[in-house]
Amino acid sequence: MLQGLTDIHCHLLPGVDDGPDEMEEAVRILRKEYDDGVRQLIVTPHYRKGMFETEMEKIVFAYLALRREAMKIDSCLRLYLGCEFHAHSKMEQELEGKIRPTLAGSRYVLTEFSSSHSYERIRNQVSGLCRKGFLPVLAHIERYPCISQDMDRVRDIKACGAYIQVNAGSLLGESGRRTRHFCGQCMKQDLIDFIATDAHGIRQRKPNLLACRKYTEKKMGSDYAEKIFNVNPEYILQNKVL
Ligand SMILES: [Fe+2]
Repeated sequence: MLQGLTDIHCHLLPGVDDGPDEMEEAVRILRKEYDDGVRQLIVTPHYRKGMFETEMEKIVFAYLALRREAMKIDSCLRLYLGCEFHAHSKMEQELEGKIRPTLAGSRYVLTEFSSSHSYERIRNQVSGLCRKGFLPVLAHIERYPCISQDMDRVRDIKACGAYIQVNAGSLLGESGRRTRHFCGQCMKQDLIDFIATDAHGIRQRKPNLLACRKYTEKKMGSDYAEKIFNVNPEYILQNKVL
């Protein structure tokens, strides 16, 4: 059993994407996660053709540097490397070629789409990833209108093999009432697999996992909160199928 909370989606590596520019801010975000009771973090820098294509060497360098900072905070604070992979047609080949990492070396892949992607496009990508043995985790599903306007599609995409991740801030209302309502419906209908911060900074899009855990427990009870925040993330870190 893991100690503390696990954040499976956050942008904490300095200077590699639109997360923190400097190590100093990265450490402040990390410290906030720690103060929230987070003890495992999978850092997930963006990978998106034409927008975020930082060389892996630079990412690994930043990751190792941040890991050293984590050790200074507490040796119980564990960092893992992942990636938020923006879907494209050669995605499976790139993953098989290990161009970018999966989540903590598991078969789980944090997969992001554009808000303009059609439902058919998302469904095909999920099926393609599953066929190749990957376990796609849909990053912040609340951001895709083709899904968030139709609850049946949430069920359908899960049936296709996708796992559902929503952002803590979206549930807490930081992205507006509509988004909160959708996330709340997903929660009530037990369609969510993971809740993560998608943290990018210390002022804006800052970590908030503890606040969301408390909110979830109040709404859904302690067993449910335990499942989402403690049990499910362990499946990723142990590379077991949820
Ligand atoms: Fe993200």
